[in-house]
Amino acid sequence: MNNLWGGSIAEAAKALNSSIGTDSRMWREDIAGSLAHAAMLTDRGIISQADGAAIKAGLEGIRADLESGALAIDMTAEDIHTFVEMELTARVGDAGKRLHTARSRNDQVATDLRLYTRGQIDVLLGLIRDAVSAIRHKAAQYADAVMPGYTHLQRAQPVTFGHYLAAWGMMLMRDAGRLTDARKRLNQCPLGACALAGTTFPIDRNATAAALGFEVPCLNSLDAVSDRDFCVETLAALSLLMAHLSRMAEELVLWSSLEFGFVTLPEGFVTGSSIMPQKKNPDMAELIRGKTGRVNGDLMGMLTVLKGLPLAYNKDMQEDKQALFDGLDTAALCLSVLAPMVEGMQPHPEAMRKAAGAGFINATDCADWLVAHGVPFREAYAVAAGLVHQGKPLEDLTLDEYRAAHPAFDETVYAAVDLDACVKRRHLPLADELAALERFATGE
Ligand code: ARG
Repeated sequence: MNNLWGGSIAEAAKALNSSIGTDSRMWREDIAGSLAHAAMLTDRGIISQADGAAIKAGLEGIRADLESGALAIDMTAEDIHTFVEMELTARVGDAGKRLHTARSRNDQVATDLRLYTRGQIDVLLGLIRDAVSAIRHKAAQYADAVMPGYTHLQRAQPVTFGHYLAAWGMMLMRDAGRLTDARKRLNQCPLGACALAGTTFPIDRNATAAALGFEVPCLNSLDAVSDRDFCVETLAALSLLMAHLSRMAEELVLWSSLEFGFVTLPEGFVTGSSIMPQKKNPDMAELIRGKTGRVNGDLMGMLTVLKGLPLAYNKDMQEDKQALFDGLDTAALCLSVLAPMVEGMQPHPEAMRKAAGAGFINATDCADWLVAHGVPFREAYAVAAGLVHQGKPLEDLTLDEYRAAHPAFDETVYAAVDLDACVKRRHLPLADELAALERFATGE
């Protein structure tokens, strides 16, 4: 027998019913939840001190043996909860059979999953901080490197590489905020809700909640076992995080192309071609971009599982973990590649400046100069457009050529169309941006 309810199911149904292939990774959380539950049962006199001590020793032994590899998880068990309870009973006998008093797998799995998600959110927050730290470092280093800023992927106005990278940092800080928010809301303990309607035993829900680091017990028992909002919220935050990573990855693909030549990606994050000897393909950036679709799929899968489910627990909900774990794993993997890739990339400020020097990205500044000298903006815009159509960089036009376009021009226009001056005059608060990124990255 490898289930907890004493019956048996058809051979063909076993594979469908089993979730251990997915949920075995929650063994630490399952044991932690059981330790807290058993301690509470003992304190409340629901089980004897002797049974409580035997369960505690048994669970700690299982944990140590799983940690060391002395014990392997039996993958024919229905799920991780079944495995741990059966192993416990095999080790400590009848005491093990008392562990599940005043508990159901429904509140157990909901507790395990919240604990696991909380832990993984903390891992992700650390990875986001690492990525922001790498971004901030490069941004500070290239604070003055002038490059074209784009709209419609057309050269638009000059910016600096530092300012550009800091924008990535802003995106990631918001992602961290969303994950932190999801973490706050999930940090309530389902234990004590049991199957759906609580229990007749005099349990202490505050004690188990506190022992597991939850803020409070979940208030409503039906909601406690059927709520998977935290899976959706986490996956939604991860989908948006991946959307951001995909945009950064796309820019790395573009910038590292010969057409742009703005950066060289570090060795170890590019691959060669099996046929073209000259190739350095940005596979890692492309894969980060591609994995985004996968996490979006995880979110849609999760939402679809929940749609129309009546309260309280339904076995459909066993399908929550694959999507959630895949999203968590994928985002963590991508972040752990992005950070060192950004850290190791070699920017080429000369190529950036060269690109900034073509494409008339100072045309707005030329128009603004006229506006500052009394010309209405629409007229100034037309004059600058006329100059652009002559095809000569605005820095290279003679004063006569300027005057032919508009009599108001004088030699101070050259300072206005100088690229460095264009960037500096914009009063962009890069120092404040870098300080905000630094505070975030150092966890202040
Ligand atoms: N493996 C199950 C899950 O992941 C545990 C809950 C089983 N509960 C039940 N009533 N059959 O959701």
